[in-house]
Amino acid sequence: MTKTLFEPYTLGSLTLSNRIIMAPLTRNRAGPGFVPGDLTAEYYGQRASAGLLISEATQISQQGQGYQDTPGIYSQAQIEGWRKVTSAVHAKGGRIFVQLWHVGRVSHIELQENGAAPVAPSAIRAKTKTFVNDGFIDVSEPRALKLHELPGIVDDFRKAAANAVAAGFDGVEVHGANGYLLDQFAKDGANVRTDAYGGSIENRARLMLEVTAAVVEEIGAERTGIRISPVSPANGVSSSDAQAQFDYIVDQLDALGIVYIHVVEGTTGGPRDATPFDFGSLRRRFGNTYIANNGYDLELATSHLTEDKADLFAFGRPFIGNPDLVERLQTGAPLAQINPATIYGGGAAGYTDYPAIAAASRR
Ligand SMILES: Cc1cc2nc3c(=O)[nH]c(=O)nc-3n(C[C@H](O)[C@H](O)[C@H](O)COP(=O)(O)O)c2cc1C
Repeated sequence: MTKTLFEPYTLGSLTLSNRIIMAPLTRNRAGPGFVPGDLTAEYYGQRASAGLLISEATQISQQGQGYQDTPGIYSQAQIEGWRKVTSAVHAKGGRIFVQLWHVGRVSHIELQENGAAPVAPSAIRAKTKTFVNDGFIDVSEPRALKLHELPGIVDDFRKAAANAVAAGFDGVEVHGANGYLLDQFAKDGANVRTDAYGGSIENRARLMLEVTAAVVEEIGAERTGIRISPVSPANGVSSSDAQAQFDYIVDQLDALGIVYIHVVEGTTGGPRDATPFDFGSLRRRFGNTYIANNGYDLELATSHLTEDKADLFAFGRPFIGNPDLVERLQTGAPLAQINPATIYGGGAAGYTDYPAIAAASRR
């Protein structure tokens, strides 16, 4: 029997009103001090009918920032800014997790304290660009993190998780995907360390798992999820052993008892099958909720739900132009297209001014 996305789902101690998740989407609209403002509260509030919203990636420290005007969650002002966002979502009956982010080498000296080099597992520059001063430019040359610096990064994630709860979030998603710091450590194309954090599969997974364990310790496994992208080349990462690496990681995440894994299946925002990978293996290894993402539409999500390949489905790009995506999918209403010029940065245009479809035009 065909299953439906439009029924409630129990995620840990939360009841989600449906199985449609808003994927994390960076929009570069934080105010001074990297504080999310009223417009951001309005934007997320408009999208609160998703079963769960996952916030845009949010840096845990200044060192963890890689793009202009992305929000943080390490200062009191940022916590207060986020409280407006979580209140707006909760007022409409929605649920929201924050995605906790350290970009590692995907940064630029202009964004770092005193123009310092961005940090990375190894001093290997990423072949990718960042968004600074309203334009896309090459990332800076990174420096390799010293062993003694790693506990400080784990601690920054831990504090950010505590701040997330103080800001009213329902939980946090550790950003372990898309070529950022934790993914850089996991993948051997970016990590040539010879200490306990490089080399073997276990060593390369260590930082991601230590961070996740610290977050669990701080706020509880029921409020902790993680995003991974095993085969995505996003931001210039590559891996010679993705299946074995991520089978191991997911076994360990399962042992930590976290509430979900959120898996970008394939190339982030690109083909789902450019690199062979058995996502079913991750699904089988993990006892709690599996959130699938990448290139889903209603038809594909419904068929994967019916085949029990995933529990929840995250939609990214469709949520930019369709604040009422859930209702549109449910009623078969057409989806609005998005304006590429207003995705990153700016104000209300292309952010909060995409209208919900008028009830009268529903079929
Ligand atoms: C504008 C934009 C911003 C994004 N920002 C993030 C982000 O902050 N964190 C993240 O993990 N992925 C981010 N992604 C990736 C999306 O979450 C998602 O994985 C991707 O768009 C594929 O899903 P879709 O086919 O439903 O759009 C972003 C994608 C886009 C288009």
